[in-house]
Amino acid sequence: MTIRAYQESDLPHIQRMWKEIGWATGPEEQAAMEWYVDEADVAVGLINGEAEALAAVHNGTIRYLDTDLDLACVTAVTTSLVGRKQGLATGTTARVVANALDRGIHVAALGMFEQGFYDRLGFGTSAYTNQMIFDPSSLTVDAPYRTPTRLGAEDWEEIHAAHLRRKRSHGGVALTPPTYTKAELATDSDGAGWGYYEGDRLTHFIWAVKREYSGPLAITLMSYETPEQILELLALVREFGDQIRSVKMVEPPEIQLHDLLRHPIRQRIQTAKSPHEARHQALAWWQLRILDLDHVVSQRSWDGDEITFNLDLADPLNSYGDGIGLSGQYRVTIAKNSHVEPGPDPSAPTMTASINALSRMWFGVHPASSLALTDRLQAPSALLARLDEAFLLPSPHPGMFF
Ligand SMILES: CC(C)(COP(=O)(O)OP(=O)(O)OC[C@H]1O[C@@H](n2cnc3c(N)ncnc32)[C@H](O)[C@@H]1OP(=O)(O)O)[C@@H](O)C(=O)NCCC(=O)NCCS
Repeated sequence: MTIRAYQESDLPHIQRMWKEIGWATGPEEQAAMEWYVDEADVAVGLINGEAEALAAVHNGTIRYLDTDLDLACVTAVTTSLVGRKQGLATGTTARVVANALDRGIHVAALGMFEQGFYDRLGFGTSAYTNQMIFDPSSLTVDAPYRTPTRLGAEDWEEIHAAHLRRKRSHGGVALTPPTYTKAELATDSDGAGWGYYEGDRLTHFIWAVKREYSGPLAITLMSYETPEQILELLALVREFGDQIRSVKMVEPPEIQLHDLLRHPIRQRIQTAKSPHEARHQALAWWQLRILDLDHVVSQRSWDGDEITFNLDLADPLNSYGDGIGLSGQYRVTIAKNSHVEPGPDPSAPTMTASINALSRMWFGVHPASSLALTDRLQAPSALLARLDEAFLLPSPHPGMFF
């Protein structure tokens, strides 16, 4: 198995692969692949000298409470139909994650096709995303309607800048390379956007895909700088209700959409089994893992009584190469200035954990005492109870799909 960094000469082979697996079948999607790989760290797996697998990382940031951490976002992992079951997807993904670790990136995240595959590289399942399908005319949002400005794929630079400026809450992700946004917008010819400017600055917008006259209209991107702007975007969606019978969107972290829907339960019953079926779906679609333990630990500033424990940490990434991965013995202190030192300290209690489970705890995906029931994280119950208190965080919410 040969794995190496992507080169320009691999482009026809990765285009062939994405056509074969149905990820980029049309001419626009094929052309956009050039932008997609332009500013990414891409590893390819070779068979007979030709790229038959790929894993790509785009750099960005992920919000941890009120600070930004450097993020390596694995935005694609694919193997052609001739390259499967030879470890190419695993090997290329391990390579780009190890590269990110070497580069000092703090956290890695990805969207998963299934749970389990990326667990083998230290990723743990993150929080549920709420996705709602509803009748837009049932929105009771109390905001006036303003005529929006139309946006198209050609406005990718402004859309990208607005998306980077947008309000993000805990777990909020922004991917830095403009060519990522350019490629994403270009690949869906049914996509279109509507937004609002203040002077020259695009402040808030939605980007959506509609395949039928009356919907569903799927909002795939939503950006705003202030919470009030969400209401204006929802007022815009409400007015689409004259034509569009159903809208699918992710619930923004700042609001509970049920507060703004007339008869949400009646809608569900009345539309059951129709193409516009109103639904509320909770999706566990993304995973994350810590790459820089010292830095991520230092971001949890805790005003309560100091907590010190030994951490016996297992990182599956260690089995993919010498010197990569975070397996080891540490001593962790959670305090105003939280930190990690080499361990162990015989007087402190010990937690045994995988990096997968620890990452989930650190981001507030699930409390330590719950992870102790279902994941690889064990500690004395008194320590678990104190950690439950210290990591009572908002649910992480990426605010975009990747
Ligand atoms: C998913 C995909 C990338 C896997 O490619 P691949 O090169 O065949 O994968 P690898 O050879 O590295 O790994 C295969 C191994 O993973 C295992 N595996 C698959 N799904 C798993 C899961 N959910 N949990 C644990 N292991 C899993 C397989 O059983 C196999 O193990 P084996 O080699 O012991 O039989 C490939 O099927 C693909 O391109 N699918 C379409 C695109 C896609 O969905 N990409 C993922 C985007 S997140």
